[in-house]
Amino acid sequence: MSAHRVVFLAGDGIGPEVAGAAREVLAAANMEIDWVDMDLGLGAFEKHGDALPPQTLEAIKDCSVALKGPTTTPIGTGHVSANVRLRKELELFANVRPVKTVPGLETPYGAVDMVIIRENTESLYAGLENEVAPGVVTSIKVITDRACRRISRFAFEYARQWGRGEVTAVHKANIMKLADGLFLNCARDVSGDYEGSIAFSDVLVDALCMHMVTTPEKFDVLLLENLYGDIVSDLAAGLIGGLGLAPGGNYGENCAVFEAIHGTAPDIAGQGVANPIAMILSAAMMCHHLGHPDAYKRIRRGVAAVTRENKTALTPDLGGSGTTESLTKAIMAAVEAQPAGAAAGE
Ligand code: NAI
Repeated sequence: MSAHRVVFLAGDGIGPEVAGAAREVLAAANMEIDWVDMDLGLGAFEKHGDALPPQTLEAIKDCSVALKGPTTTPIGTGHVSANVRLRKELELFANVRPVKTVPGLETPYGAVDMVIIRENTESLYAGLENEVAPGVVTSIKVITDRACRRISRFAFEYARQWGRGEVTAVHKANIMKLADGLFLNCARDVSGDYEGSIAFSDVLVDALCMHMVTTPEKFDVLLLENLYGDIVSDLAAGLIGGLGLAPGGNYGENCAVFEAIHGTAPDIAGQGVANPIAMILSAAMMCHHLGHPDAYKRIRRGVAAVTRENKTALTPDLGGSGTTESLTKAIMAAVEAQPAGAAAGE
């Protein structure tokens, strides 16, 4: 195996703890990686006066792949989100968030196995806000034909690659007839190219939220614009036991950045109790992207072995008394114990 050059963005809050854990697990899975450590987020802003310094952007462009811890974005004031800028600058247009019940961690919601595919570059996240008069603010929702077709194509291709049967477009086209209507029409149009192999359906975003809680097993691949995707993926994470379990990846034509759904968890940062599983599973997705499906499977199986059989190692958010470090060590040992190569399965 030749070494891959990968940018490491530790991030803020619990970022360094959980991203560091993921890095250790990658080593346990025998992934040979030359890490390029760069700054991003609040720490970068304080150090360089820029939450996304140009040298960080250049390093990701150069390496094509990054593993990223969460970054802090001040609420209602301060610097523009480093995440939003990163996704726009690198055209990381597709955010993929697989949400699957973790073995041994049963919840009241039964067997969940859905994938959220979120458009990452436009909608209300375009950041076009204006105070048009005192006490009156407009926030512009940008939806383009090009971006809708691109994310729809991505969702169907993802479904094809991963053997998924249905793509469901999520919208509010009854109210936002033009913006969400365009999103829905593009998705429907693209679905025509997959007729007979991948089913297509659509659902209003509010109804989806109810159905996700009552019948989550019915959903397969969900296709959403930016804001709905952000909100719905936190809901989906709750269905499988919380934000500490849900991984993600951001994909563009030239680069990919892997990160958990969760944020910097300021309430537990520095205490050594953050759950590293979401970051570790994000790192597994990165292995798959880098062409190592064996490492992807070994890591997933290692995590499953621990969540099934080693409850005391789990962090407090999962009802255990373990620490980030003890859970990481348990997962590393379980990953090392998994068979490599073709013998590995999911
Ligand atoms: P959050 O995800 O950081 O925390 C929400 C709740 O989940 C907290 O109670 C936290 O303790 C818990 N939690 C999250 N991850 C956990 C983990 N790995 N293990 C155990 N518990 C965990 O969301 P919040 O509080 O809304 O945002 C905090 C900061 O994170 C904000 O500055 C926000 O902008 C940023 N953020 C960054 C993201 C990113 O970089 N991709 C994504 C979401 C939020």
